[in-house]
Amino acid sequence: MKVLVVGGGGREHAIAWRIAQDPAVRQVYCVPGNAGAMADVSCIPGNIMDAREMLSLAASLGVDLTVIGPEAPLVEGIADTFRSAGHAVVGPSAAGARLEGSKAFAKDFMADNGIPTARSALLEDLADVERTIGRFGYPVVLKADGLAAGKGVVIAEDEKAAGLTAREMLTGQMVGGAGRRIVVEECLRGVEVSFIVLSDGASFCALPVTRDHKRAFNGDLGPNTGGMGAYSDASILSEEMRGRIVEKVVEPTLAGMHRRGTPFEGFLYCGLMLTDDGPKVLEFNVRLGDPETQPLLYRLEGGFAECLAGAARGALDSSLVHASDLSTACVVMAAGGYPGAYPKGKPIRGIREAEQTGAKVFHAGTAFSGGLPVTAGGRVLGVTARGEGLHRALDNAYAATRLVHFDGVHYRTDIGRPGYQDDRAGN
Ligand code: AMP
Ligand code: GLY
Repeated sequence: MKVLVVGGGGREHAIAWRIAQDPAVRQVYCVPGNAGAMADVSCIPGNIMDAREMLSLAASLGVDLTVIGPEAPLVEGIADTFRSAGHAVVGPSAAGARLEGSKAFAKDFMADNGIPTARSALLEDLADVERTIGRFGYPVVLKADGLAAGKGVVIAEDEKAAGLTAREMLTGQMVGGAGRRIVVEECLRGVEVSFIVLSDGASFCALPVTRDHKRAFNGDLGPNTGGMGAYSDASILSEEMRGRIVEKVVEPTLAGMHRRGTPFEGFLYCGLMLTDDGPKVLEFNVRLGDPETQPLLYRLEGGFAECLAGAARGALDSSLVHASDLSTACVVMAAGGYPGAYPKGKPIRGIREAEQTGAKVFHAGTAFSGGLPVTAGGRVLGVTARGEGLHRALDNAYAATRLVHFDGVHYRTDIGRPGYQDDRAGN
């Protein structure tokens, strides 16, 4: 089998690397990939937002399957372009991708299908703000309706902050057109988990559950980021909670999309808060998470590529993959200043030494300059390791992380547990 992976972040490096491990796979391409993906698979430059260009690339390479990594091309309909040309693709149609592309749509959909989520209201103009915002108490959560690259959600502590944020979103100052409508909702408390399934439109396969750490700094302080680290471990969910998530969230979502005539084919990421009242949906994404994919795929055993090919054909076989008994953890190494402005082009040292410990260093924002890997994004690397039990996986990930260096690097030292501090991390 020949496979094309579309995207160039840490998630896509992990997807391409994992697919390349399967004996059924002869060749993996990644467009555009990054400096790390280049070491594992064939990377090709290209504009991933141009669906026609991607389709002709897939055709000229003669691939059997294309996997779309990021949400933006999915929301624009890249999977429809592939399907209507008869090419096997993993990723939902534009209609399915609305679950992520419009938070207002997702909230309506959940209300229509009885899927548990935070109480919310839609604000369309400044006049709505004062009338509505106080209803939910404080802190209150404000979400730009459209795609905002992880920057569209603000938790406002009081009325003043909420009013200011609502104005900045609605007037386009904060996230441009994505904020022209905003969802305001009650702030939920509990444990946050990422529950991701692969569906062929009818049946589904639950992938190993993960937890992400969205805040920039230790102790869940600082601004939200795309994710500063993640882990996967059997202890995250009890069997009882897993059953409730499937029954209350996954099955009604897939059934609801089917009833609308837009069956969901691809990765459905359920961002959940496990509250005292049971699981509630914080968000849907229509793709694998980043950095969740790194520990998720590092823990996934079996024929992943065959499982993807089955999903693309409408014949998903969930028995092809299963979670390893080991735990996995990923520490994101970020550029100085991230999630604000950050420099690029800083030489990265120590990757080989880190991998000699048995860890895998997935690249996110990296490029080559003069034959050396340099930083080229905010989240630069995701250092990922396994271990027997979460503590060992974390120790292994941090031992490898400490061997890597670039100017200005910062990373959280408490990935994996609120109380966990890697005392030797030295930052
Ligand atoms: P979203 O993009 O909707 O997942 O929001 C980003 C992050 O904001 C989530 O991962 C949560 O950590 C947080 N968040 C979103 N909605 C809520 C909510 N209703 N209550 C508490 N935290 C939330
Ligand atoms: N790590 C969160 C996301 O991928 O949306």
